[in-house]
Amino acid sequence: MQRKKVAVIGTGYIGAVHVEQLLRMPGVEIVGVADRNIALARDVAARFGIARVYDSAEQVLADSAVEVIHNCTPNHLHYDLNCRALAAGKEVFSEKPLALNAAESADLAQRAARQGAVTGVGFCYRYYPVVQEAAARVARGDIGTVFNVMGSYLQDWLLYDTDFNWRLNPDMAGRSNIMGDLGSHWCDLAQFVTGLKIVEVMADLRTTHPVRKRPKSGEALTFAKAGPSDYEEVPVKLDDYAAVLLRFENGARGTFTTSQLAAGRKCHIDLQVYGSKGALAWNHERQAELWVGHRDTANEVFIESPLLQTEATRRHARLPSGHPMGYMDAMWNLFADFYLAIDLKRQGKKPDYRYPDFAAGHAEMQVLEAALASHHSGAWTRVG
Ligand SMILES: NC(=O)c1ccc[n+]([C@@H]2O[C@H](COP(=O)([O-])OP(=O)(O)OC[C@H]3O[C@@H](n4cnc5c(N)ncnc54)[C@H](O)[C@@H]3O)[C@@H](O)[C@H]2O)c1
Repeated sequence: MQRKKVAVIGTGYIGAVHVEQLLRMPGVEIVGVADRNIALARDVAARFGIARVYDSAEQVLADSAVEVIHNCTPNHLHYDLNCRALAAGKEVFSEKPLALNAAESADLAQRAARQGAVTGVGFCYRYYPVVQEAAARVARGDIGTVFNVMGSYLQDWLLYDTDFNWRLNPDMAGRSNIMGDLGSHWCDLAQFVTGLKIVEVMADLRTTHPVRKRPKSGEALTFAKAGPSDYEEVPVKLDDYAAVLLRFENGARGTFTTSQLAAGRKCHIDLQVYGSKGALAWNHERQAELWVGHRDTANEVFIESPLLQTEATRRHARLPSGHPMGYMDAMWNLFADFYLAIDLKRQGKKPDYRYPDFAAGHAEMQVLEAALASHHSGAWTRVG
């Protein structure tokens, strides 16, 4: 199989993670990287031994040698760059959220489908081995009919009014901060594990700090802090907290809470699925464990294992039993499914596994849009 020639646009926090994982992906060659901050792109290229630093995203798109684009720029650039990459005949992996609104994401999903492009979206939390295992067990009927889905996604890096990031700027983030950022991950996880669509939502969002102190020196990089004296006060309108009631297509009910002001919680993702025969629960802080709840016998904790997992999910448990995989490996697993889809396309075949493509990215945008509409109207709102 010929090596796939790849370029990464945006070399900030997640772009560097993409580069690192692509370097250990068989059959992939990173031909270059680009970032508006050229010094950052040069630094990443030097650190990882990447030969070329492009002057701009435009130069990447114009390079006919590049077959696959990884779009790791802030949200407001996703639609335009993804569109232009598809138009240039490239396969496209985009970070989430897929676009700024559902009209844009629908358009991207349609364009990709029309031209048979292989697409991917960065819903990496699906790719912990026991999350795949949970989805396979629900599909096999282990927990019976799903009744309730509950959970949260909590962080603390925007706790103080001196914390700032482009995610709080609607021109770059879109109409939501936290529901678009963390909510999109959790809703994707819930729908993937249950195999059920969210069809209706009732949402309550809050901007806890309506005024924040932005570093004068320019944009703060994700998870970075500025010194205490060089701030200017700016109004903030986007959400940093959300609580959402959910209805799933089979009538199951759910609840989801998210906050970036939850002191001590760094990346606390909790998903609990309760069914007519049993329950499954997973938490990102103990990422290798799947809690299996029984009513009449002792509960179990299943640990990821390439020997013991359901056969279809073993390929995602890539280390010997007892050797836990982490965030980087989840990203690698996600990319592995994306690049396998490209291999299959080249053989004239389609994937027989579920992975997050632009259609999945659009499904998340529809949930997000319904949540925003519900928050404004105060009423239950249908998705899509
Ligand atoms: N899948 C995940 O777990 C995950 C995690 C973090 C971020 N993300 C997503 O990834 C995207 C980037 O987030 P981040 O945290 O890496 O942000 P970041 O601010 O750390 O990095 C973004 C980079 O894009 C660059 N950029 C801006 N405009 C550009 C342009 N026109 N051309 C080229 N580069 C440009 C910036 O200079 C910056 O280096 C966001 O959409 C975010 O939602 C996903």
